[in-house]
Amino acid sequence: MKTNGVVIWLTGLSGAGKTTIAETLERIFSAKQLQVELLDGDVIRTNLSQGLGYTKEDRDTNIRRVGFVANLLSRNGVIVIVATISPYRLVRDEMKAMIHHFLEVYINAPLTICESRDVKGLYAAARKGKIKAFTGIDAPYEAPLTPDITCFTDRETVEESVTKIMNALEAGGFVDGMRSESTTPPYKGLKGLQAQQQKAS
Ligand code: ADX
Repeated sequence: MKTNGVVIWLTGLSGAGKTTIAETLERIFSAKQLQVELLDGDVIRTNLSQGLGYTKEDRDTNIRRVGFVANLLSRNGVIVIVATISPYRLVRDEMKAMIHHFLEVYINAPLTICESRDVKGLYAAARKGKIKAFTGIDAPYEAPLTPDITCFTDRETVEESVTKIMNALEAGGFVDGMRSESTTPPYKGLKGLQAQQQKAS
């Protein structure tokens, strides 16, 4: 398996399953001896974005920082997995436009499911008003309109979701030499690649 560097950007509500899927992908790439980095929101906010809050402005700053690092790594051949809520469409699209090899993955689970999972107890705190501006409760989540992939984590297993992403990476020529004709840049996500292939045929 080989790679040209790519950013796999997982966006979705807190508790939708971003970290679980991201860590599974990371393990797969590591096992294949590929260079991989995981930029997880919860971790990033303890270092690179320490001190930022959850206003729209701070979240956009967070996403731009993460995108900047992801871009540097991916253009040097690293597979970068980003797992941040990244709730605002405009700044996500900004990252998509900036990063050459970019795969937008919508980790989609209904709010009711995320809230019932409440892994960190944050939804309960938000409902009680102890946490303000919590995504999905009193702060917006703008779902992607045209994601490259959507993982429905309320009705797919982790393996099914991960397989979808791996298949898309291979089909897009981001990893593996299976479809070497599709590794020629420029292309933007799978849709861009498909459009490019249609034009060529
Ligand atoms: S983002 O909106 O800027 O993309 P990010 O993914 O970095 O968010 O961080 C989200 C994590 O911060 C959540 O998983 C949760 O643990 C924590 N968190 C704390 N306060 C909030 C809040 N008000 N809204 C969402 N997440 C919060």
